[in-house]
Amino acid sequence: MSGARDLRLWHPFTQQGAEPPPPIVCNAQGVYFETQDGRKILDAISSWWVNIHGHSHPAIAEAVALQAARLEHVLFAGFSHEPAEELAARLGKIMPSPLRHVFFSDDGSTAVEVALKLAVQYWANCGRPQKRKIVALEHAYHGDTAGAMSVSDDSPFTAPFESMRFPVLRTDSAYCAHCPVGLARATCHIECLDKLAKLLAEQADEIAAVIVEPLLQGAGGMIVHPEEFLAGVRRLTAAHDVLLIADEVLTGFGRTGRMFACERAGVVPDLMCVAKGLTGGFLPLAATFTTDRVHDAFTGGDRSRTFFHGHSYTANPIACAAANASLQIFENEPVFERIAAIENAHAARLPAFASDPRVADARRIGTVAAIELAVPDAGYLSSLRPRLYAYYLSRGVLLRPLGNVVYILPPYVITPNELNFVYDVIRDSLAVAFPS
Ligand SMILES: Cc1ncc(COP(=O)(O)O)c(C=O)c1O
Repeated sequence: MSGARDLRLWHPFTQQGAEPPPPIVCNAQGVYFETQDGRKILDAISSWWVNIHGHSHPAIAEAVALQAARLEHVLFAGFSHEPAEELAARLGKIMPSPLRHVFFSDDGSTAVEVALKLAVQYWANCGRPQKRKIVALEHAYHGDTAGAMSVSDDSPFTAPFESMRFPVLRTDSAYCAHCPVGLARATCHIECLDKLAKLLAEQADEIAAVIVEPLLQGAGGMIVHPEEFLAGVRRLTAAHDVLLIADEVLTGFGRTGRMFACERAGVVPDLMCVAKGLTGGFLPLAATFTTDRVHDAFTGGDRSRTFFHGHSYTANPIACAAANASLQIFENEPVFERIAAIENAHAARLPAFASDPRVADARRIGTVAAIELAVPDAGYLSSLRPRLYAYYLSRGVLLRPLGNVVYILPPYVITPNELNFVYDVIRDSLAVAFPS
């Protein structure tokens, strides 16, 4: 071995060599990052949708420090620990009551992998191994691991990995701005469900589960679905004895104005995935919830019924302590009042964008608002995106447009003034996007 070499960082979703060196963040408080070169950047996207109570919240920081000094980790197979037991009890209070079992993992993608594997093994354990196909939506995004990539829709993210993706049955998304069946929301009857109805009528004997991002498809373009669509998916899956997986990795913990998006549609899925906001954005931790029905198919004397799945850091005690502290903040602080204030700000500012001819669609749900710009090269690789991203950073705001879709997804502690500033910057950016 010869002398020290300079090991270069390879950043996620970042083209090597094509982008300027990233700012080095050395501090974060509330909605602001502070960089080594003295800049202050307003985090308008909750640091990839994970932060909820503001950065470096002292109660979570303290819980993490205390837990790290007491018990940093113990394998979760054959052992348990207080932070996980407490977290299960806390989550039990906020989950719909049929979801009585929780399987921990590390991040959103693994929570989805767990749900898919549970669904497929559930039917095998029930003596129906032919029920193993998965139905997923157009525009879906469920993560970057192989299974999660398979159920995600085809995109520049998945194109190089076609050979690694298992086949999936694809059905329409309720993308009202570009209705897949050519209707208008004001007069339609959610006919975009018809394709799913047909798939289930013809193939339910071979289908294990339908997976959806409830009410809000995130990385696919912040697409907001009518509640009737989700309710219809639940009705159809129940009628055809197919499991419903709700991927609440993005929507969980208040993003859509309720603790979970499914609540808004009065839906209880058979499996639910959460991650991102679970620890308040401090540490990676995910969970997949399920019902007695699914869980009980894994019990009994036959050891081949076991769910042979786990990760080294499953239910890490420090991550569980962070999650407990975050859920305590929901009880101690006026979190849903903050969420309502964000909803009000979106309601006040979004209409001006909706009526702008440069905007194809403006939509919102809960704390999330999205402005889809009308460009010829719409999509994730839109040429607009790098220009806008750089412009926003130059104005001290972190916004990462999904191609031609600019969205705001802030930590709940953002103030109306700060949110108005973000909207002003987006308004100004239209001149950058569409120079005259
Ligand atoms: C709905 C949804 N599911 C799954 C994931 C994957 O989560 P992670 O990046 O934590 O693996 C994401 C990430 O954006 C997501 O939005």
